[in-house]
Amino acid sequence: MQKFTVTNDHDVSISAITLGATWKAFNIPGKDGKPENVMLSMPSSDEYMKNQYFCQAIGRTAGRITKGTFSINGQEYHVDANEGTTTLHGGPHGFNTQIWNGAFDGDSIVFEKHIDSSEDSFPGNIDVKITYTLSDDNEVTISYTAKSDADTLFNPTQHAYFNLSDGQNVYGQSLQINADKYLELNKDKTPTGKMVAVDDTPYDFRDPQNIKLGIDDMKAEVGHTYDEVYVINDHNDDDPIATLTDPESGRSVAIKSNRNVLVVFTPDDLDGVKFDRGAGVPHMGIALEAQNLPDTPNHEGFGSVLLPKGEEKTYSISYKATF
Ligand code: BGC
Repeated sequence: MQKFTVTNDHDVSISAITLGATWKAFNIPGKDGKPENVMLSMPSSDEYMKNQYFCQAIGRTAGRITKGTFSINGQEYHVDANEGTTTLHGGPHGFNTQIWNGAFDGDSIVFEKHIDSSEDSFPGNIDVKITYTLSDDNEVTISYTAKSDADTLFNPTQHAYFNLSDGQNVYGQSLQINADKYLELNKDKTPTGKMVAVDDTPYDFRDPQNIKLGIDDMKAEVGHTYDEVYVINDHNDDDPIATLTDPESGRSVAIKSNRNVLVVFTPDDLDGVKFDRGAGVPHMGIALEAQNLPDTPNHEGFGSVLLPKGEEKTYSISYKATF
């Protein structure tokens, strides 16, 4: 396993590791000037292997594909399932399970991998490149580029879990999301196809909302905490789709992307997981995953995440720290 670190002139640094192209650290100074890692990170590769997805690269397709089945140009494909009959986050051999070839390219960290169709069961052999870049104005940009030798699906994300505070949970932090709607989900969390307005519900983060209050309202009114697919409003690429803020430490991270979804996930049960911050506790972090709508080929009006044969496609997400 290799770890790569880049530091800028403002005491901000990032680290990423070859296992799962994982974003291991985003160190941001607090009010006292002391940088702390705001990513929910783990102390060993063993721990990363035992607990999937934590700040790892997700692909080829983020989110759930109903029955692992979809069609491209009238041809039906079945890919490997890893959650009952559902394919979650690229299935059992997704990007997060790969050991990537890592290198520096100037100030960027670059991970590359050729993935055979026989390995992850998706159509097309693909070449994937994931790049982490830290700018001098404290912005991390992650880009995902792929090229396939057959038509395939490509909807990658970074499964980032943030905790901007120096404490053990995210309760003091607030979140703002540029989304009027979220996806209705079936019991197995696959989309029904319906989009629902956030108005007058605990799903509404259009104005900054304290996360603890939101979690409490969700529990009381909906019966569970957040594991939601927000449909991002049309926006300029330069406008954040979401901003997470910790008033106490003074840290904030604004997420920019031209993707049309942000998944928000506040895990209730992190029991038994060892993090660099200590033993896992409920709501130790909040996952914010910018991506395109999940299960796209199976829902009319969800757009397309097709990666046509021979074409190169790049998706980017950036995270700007202020402190
Ligand atoms: C999904 C959750 C899932 C989690 C796994 C999130 O993107 O929305 O349902 O449990 O990933 O880490």
